[in-house]
Amino acid sequence: MKKNDERINENIKVIPTNKIDSTAWRELPYAEEGHVGKYKNKIKTIYDVVEKYQPKVSAQTGLNAGHSAVLILEASDTVLHSFDLGHHLNSTPLVHGILEKYYPNRHYYVEGDSKKTLKNFDTKIDFAMVDGGHDYDSCLQDIINFDRCLNLNGLMLIDDVHQGPVGNAVNDFNWELYDDISEEVKDYHGLAKLFIKKRTEHRFPIISSDVV
Ligand SMILES: C[S@@+](CC[C@H](N)C(=O)[O-])C[C@H]1O[C@@H](n2cnc3c(N)ncnc32)[C@H](O)[C@@H]1O
Repeated sequence: MKKNDERINENIKVIPTNKIDSTAWRELPYAEEGHVGKYKNKIKTIYDVVEKYQPKVSAQTGLNAGHSAVLILEASDTVLHSFDLGHHLNSTPLVHGILEKYYPNRHYYVEGDSKKTLKNFDTKIDFAMVDGGHDYDSCLQDIINFDRCLNLNGLMLIDDVHQGPVGNAVNDFNWELYDDISEEVKDYHGLAKLFIKKRTEHRFPIISSDVV
């Protein structure tokens, strides 16, 4: 059961942080699924991380009703690529128009299963947020695909790591190229992991068993 002070009005009248007064935030549609905008400490943590690292190009799985998108776009001048199934017909497909109005030419939306759509994504990114499908396969594939695109010193933030399949996917990925800086997101509601890519070469490259 969530504590009352951690639950924010689902109708999204609150201001995301005390630093901004985002009109875009107020215009977002009613969310048909969970989102970061319900929790003060998630809002603050995401905003602070993006503000601190100032990514130029970002990507996220899980656009939903646009809350994480507004935080990322408000906290920096980044361009943001969002991937979502788009099955919440009264929210997700409408969000891109709102984001385009407030952050012109800074938001791109790709509809479909990210396990497929992200496979063709080859844009170099500085910040990735994994918050799409919370099943093991979707989460692991999102991590693998974002890892391929992340620049050196790029960040990967993974939401809801306390959920079994998400936690298992995070544990099964080889983070050897990354430093775990989850300490920076310790005040998150629930559990998040934050990794920064610090190396480009694996210490022990995988050699195909076909090679003799
Ligand atoms: C928890 S919500 C995202 C919340 C959003 N990041 C926010 O805080 O504003 C999860 C979203 O992931 C999407 N999703 C679920 N499975 C997906 C998949 N396989 N590919 C792409 N999007 C998916 C859902 O449609 C939903 O909108």
